[in-house]
Amino acid sequence: MSDKTIENLMNEAREYDPPQEMLEQANLTAEKYEQACRDAELDPEGFWAERARKLLDWKRDFSTTLESDSEKHEYKWFGGGRLNASENCLDRHLKNGRRNKAALIWQGEPEEDVRVFTYHMLHRKVCRFANVLKKMGVSKGDRVAIYLPMVPELAISMLACARIGAVHSVIFAGFSAVSLQNRIIDCDAKILIAADGVLRGGKKILLKRNVDEALFECPSVEQVIMVKRTGDEIDFIEGRDTWWHEELSASDIEDFCKPESMRSDDPLFILHTSGSTGKAKGIEHTTGGYMTIVAHTAKWVFDLKDDDVHWCTADIGWITGHSYSVYGPLALGATTLLFEGVPTYPRPDRYWEIINRYGVNIFYTTPTAIRALMREGSQWTEKYDLSTLRILGSVGEPINPEVWVWFYEHVGKGKLPVLDTWWQTETGGILISPLPYVGKLKPGSTGKPLPGIKTKIVNNDGSNASTNEGGHLLITEPWPGMLSSIHKDRARYNRTYFERFPGSYETGDGARIDEEGFHWIMGRLDDVINVSGHRLGTTEIESALIAHPDVTEAAVVGIPHEIKGQTVYAYVTLRSGLDQDEEMRMALRDWVGKKIGPIAIPETIQFSEGLPKTRSGKIVRRILRRIAAGEDDLGDTATLSDASVINDLIEGQKILFE
Ligand code: WT7
Repeated sequence: MSDKTIENLMNEAREYDPPQEMLEQANLTAEKYEQACRDAELDPEGFWAERARKLLDWKRDFSTTLESDSEKHEYKWFGGGRLNASENCLDRHLKNGRRNKAALIWQGEPEEDVRVFTYHMLHRKVCRFANVLKKMGVSKGDRVAIYLPMVPELAISMLACARIGAVHSVIFAGFSAVSLQNRIIDCDAKILIAADGVLRGGKKILLKRNVDEALFECPSVEQVIMVKRTGDEIDFIEGRDTWWHEELSASDIEDFCKPESMRSDDPLFILHTSGSTGKAKGIEHTTGGYMTIVAHTAKWVFDLKDDDVHWCTADIGWITGHSYSVYGPLALGATTLLFEGVPTYPRPDRYWEIINRYGVNIFYTTPTAIRALMREGSQWTEKYDLSTLRILGSVGEPINPEVWVWFYEHVGKGKLPVLDTWWQTETGGILISPLPYVGKLKPGSTGKPLPGIKTKIVNNDGSNASTNEGGHLLITEPWPGMLSSIHKDRARYNRTYFERFPGSYETGDGARIDEEGFHWIMGRLDDVINVSGHRLGTTEIESALIAHPDVTEAAVVGIPHEIKGQTVYAYVTLRSGLDQDEEMRMALRDWVGKKIGPIAIPETIQFSEGLPKTRSGKIVRRILRRIAAGEDDLGDTATLSDASVINDLIEGQKILFE
């Protein structure tokens, strides 16, 4: 690609002209889109009600679309309605001609590990496992924690919980024993579903040890159901641990399990995400609203069709996998692909090889993965015929225009829409995104809010920002799929999302809107950093560091990173007399890995004697961020109680990067 093309693509909006046959098959044509915008503008509730009724099977129709109590920040969607998420993802497809179609294709890390489940087979497994849970005494409203790698049992567990009205709480298998424990305690899970280990990048990582460690202090957990993945010998705790395969094949387990009739506002799941304090927030999602937003966005943004193979590469441990590997595609009766491995193992062509092998149509991934693959070179993409692809998507962090263009040129071959989709754990589904065949695309922009979604950008004082001026991104109207609460912490829910800018939902992101209404996300405005698209609270990492016996003080900031978007940079003050050396750094890294998980390990640790603070003793991270990034302009330092620490910090940073 010539430099000229890159420049054009980066500076100008791309008038994307989809081939005629793509337009003809689109779920949402330009004309329908315009109509949807008008409908949603005139009668937003009517618009959402129509989507909910069209896309889902309701056991009982809802009588109200939205009941709002803006004082209490309560937004109740589809009141009076009853439905079951697992029934919507499975049972209805047994009757509409999809019974023998692949619902789930699983590609394990070893090439030969492939499992395919038709809708009939997946339904059978989910029903049987739901019966196992019932046999263990799990009933409606109980919480079930799931700590599994990317294996089919993960999706089966979630759907089985949904079937009986149990609330699942998936915990990313990369989290440490401590993080696992905190999350289990927060949701008082009755059952834990886990695996012996994980296969990753050609290595085996044991998980059972984390399970045992975590469960030392989780009195709520009565039983542990273990999935055999690596086959390593593991210790079993008599009376507590059982094998998944043995439970599932027990002779008293029946093939059918009646789906529980759930109210729209019954919780479907809890998923923890980091916030700006040390404790992770358990985001609660309800059944009716969540299922509506995921089915709706899968249909319009990904233009999902019956013949499609939809591949979202995210781990199901994050919201992306919940919404676009499991609930969204299955609700629409599509084929979803799960991949256990990593993009670069055994070779950096793994993604392209999988796309080719299964004829993937929709490919949804992260800027981090694209950057890593881009670095390996475009020759890897050229080895394979990728012509089944129809839509490319990106999520989780800002995608730099160069990376967008590479994705567009080398994976999309200059023919496919690249959709930069913006959303959060809290929003349940995509809220801001270009639509594949409607309007133009601007590399680096997440496009406009979807019909029915209203945003605005405000300054610190709440006044409206002008065009192209950066500020706080707010969502000004409720939408189906918005979180219903933070588990066990209503006050934090109110404070985090609704109190600073009354009347709107505060996303925590900075953004600007250009003259054409395109949104440009600038990153988090709170103490949250985004490493490889994973949200990490800086305070969470600081708490972990401070808990180390040799550490007296710590401050953590994010700095830009070529591949991961951001990485963790930690300033650490040690107890006096200790050696500030590589050995100590290793020990601290290891410690953070154990406390939180490998993703939180600081890439850089700078030892410091003091930190910049305000007179009231608050660490000024703004300055630390600039020092860490090697910036010359540190901004206003007048408010510091002792500005003399600054020079030492700058020196220290220089030495590290010499
Ligand atoms: C945060 C939410 C949504 C699924 C994955 C992450 C950032 C998300 C984009 C995007 C720029 C993005 C935001 C957001 N983010 N999508 N397209 N462009 N930034 O879910 O862990 O809840 O994180 O990810 O900062 O607030 P999450």
